[in-house]
Parts: sequence; structure tokens; C-alpha cells
Amino acid sequence: MPFWELTVRASPEVSEGLTNFLWEQGALGLVEEEAPCFPPRLRAFFPETVSSTRLAGAVGDYLASLRALDLAVNGGEPVVTPLLDEAWAEAWRRAFAPLRVGRRLLIIPPWETPTTENGLKILVIEPGRAFGTGTHGSTQGCLVLLEALLDRHPVGYPRGVPTRKRGSRGCALDIGTGTGILAIAAAALGVPRVTALDTDPDAVAAARANAERNGVSERIHCVVSEAGELRETTAPLILANLLAGSHVALAPEYRRLSSPGGHLILGGLLADEAASIEEALAQHGFIFAERTDVDGWASLLFRRQASDVTLARSTTSDEAASSGGFAPASWGEESAGGR
Ligand SMILES: C[S@@+](CC[C@H](N)C(=O)[O-])C[C@H]1O[C@@H](n2cnc3c(N)ncnc32)[C@H](O)[C@@H]1O
Repeated sequence: MPFWELTVRASPEVSEGLTNFLWEQGALGLVEEEAPCFPPRLRAFFPETVSSTRLAGAVGDYLASLRALDLAVNGGEPVVTPLLDEAWAEAWRRAFAPLRVGRRLLIIPPWETPTTENGLKILVIEPGRAFGTGTHGSTQGCLVLLEALLDRHPVGYPRGVPTRKRGSRGCALDIGTGTGILAIAAAALGVPRVTALDTDPDAVAAARANAERNGVSERIHCVVSEAGELRETTAPLILANLLAGSHVALAPEYRRLSSPGGHLILGGLLADEAASIEEALAQHGFIFAERTDVDGWASLLFRRQASDVTLARSTTSDEAASSGGFAPASWGEESAGGR
């Protein structure tokens, strides 16, 4: 059975909306490719039952409607070409080859056999509708910062807090988890418990399935939720790969949800948006610490001012359990890590 491959270039500003639009048109799979100096290229695969003419027309109309709204589409017209039988599966698989990120993370799709190379942390991620296959610069930047941070500051429960007091709350929050890739990486790198949330129920289902695949489902609590609805107390690590505007809007929530002295990793910023996000987060007590750029996407690490440490000390021991602090020696039975 033949398939159609639709390719179209579109600016980062519109590629998320266009991606959703292509899924709604019946795409079987979708790949976003980045190259320096060019707008990202989206490749979407469709079954032959979809009319190629109607498809190209619908995508052309969608882009025209974005242009009419003065959005910078920066792309050309969509091109639809036929693919024979196995070619689409082959093209799909090639797009998700094993990928090394950071010093020891290896992201593989479920059809690859995990390497036995020592010291690698393997993240098995099914490339589906949810965002976060690891191929995107924003995900990679967050992973690089996360790995380096956890090497310096392992995140765990404070020493002496008994297991029964730890509950199911996360030592880390992954806001906008998508496939769950950042939460799974955090668990694989030793964070005992992660709360992973997303407003999209399909993403939460994908994150649950991926956590299961990686043998860390007991340690990752996946929930459909907005950051603002989260009633956790505080966590020493927050991960959020969203858009610049969302970070500005959520800055008070980051403040509310992070432990004094805790860390915040933000992704999803175009390189020239990073400075304004640093300024916006500084207003909420976050000190900029480090930046990583991948394919034009900036990821930022912040440390929350420790000024209200006194307040944290006066909380009950149960609250203290979730208020964090870095306690490598207390990981004990919960530091199993991933595969
Ligand atoms: C760019 S993807 C990031 C996926 C993954 N964390 C990664 O790093 O590759 C952003 C995700 O955040 C979700 N999202 C957007 N705004 C959100 C909010 N305010 N609260 C929770 N999830 C949100 C979207 O549904 C989407 O799945």
C-alpha cells in the first residue's frame, strides 16, 4: 500500500500549530527536522486513503490563514510525494535512530535493541503524537542541563525523612511532560520521584506508557493538570519545556512550587528570547545560572534564592519532606535509576 509524504517548512512560531493540524488531517507519523539557517522542516506521512490534492490544499489554506493573522510563517508551499510500501516505515525509523545526548544519555525508540555499553542511561521513547522524542533542540538542551545539574547536585528527600512521610509527591516536577522524556531522564539519573503533568490527556497517556517502558512507572506520577492547579507543596527541581510566553505567565507558579535554593530548568526559548526570560524570572527570585543552546533553541538553568530557608525550617516534617534540599546520602532504596 503506498503512502504520501508531505513536506513543508514553517517557522518555529507556527510549527506547533501546524503539527497539530497535520495530526488532525490523519497523519500516521510526523518528524520535525531542524537545520541551521532554515525554518524547521516538517515531514508528515499519510495513508493513501487521504487525497493528496485535498491535503496539499488544506495545508496551503491553513498557512494562508496564519499569514492573514500576521504570523511569520516563513515557509514555502507544502509538497506531497508518494512513498511506496515499506518506504514510509523505513523513513519513519530512520528519523528516530538512536540519539546520544549529553554525556551518557541515549534515546532509542522501542524497536531498537538497547546497547550494553557501560554507563549509558537508556531512555526508550515511542515517537508518537506527543512532543518529546529527543530530536528537538529544546528537549536536548533541557536534558544536557538536567544531567549536568544532577551530577553536581543529586536531588532527593532530605536526610532522615522516613519513607512513610515521603508520600507520592515528586522531588521533581516536569511541567508539560509530553512523552515524559524529561521526567524519565530525571528518574534514570536518580531522582527518586517525579510528578509529570500535561494539559493534554494524550500526552499524559504517552508519558505513562513510556514510563512503563523504562521501568520507572512506580516513580513517575503522571497527571492531566495545569501547573496552576497543582497542589503539591514544593519540589527542589522543576523542569518546564514550554514557550517563552508560558514561562512569563507561569513564573509565579514556579516560585510557589519550588523549594528555596531549588533549581528550575526552562526550555522552549528561541535564542533571542532568553534574555527577557532571565529578566522575568529574576523578578520572581530566580537567579540565572547556566544556558545551553541547541539548534537555535536556548535552555536555561536557574537557582531559586534561598532567602526563605527559615520559613522552610519552620514547616512540619511532612512539609519538609517535599520541600527538598539535596540529600544524596539519603537516596537509599529509591535511587535505583533507570535501565
Ligand atoms: C514542547 S512540549 C515539551 C515536551 C517534553 N517535556 C520535552 O521536553 O520534549 C510542551 C508540552 O507542554 C504541554 N503544556 C503546555 N502548557 C502547559 C501548562 N500550562 N501546563 C501543563 N502542560 C502544558 C503541552 O501540551 C505539551 O505537551
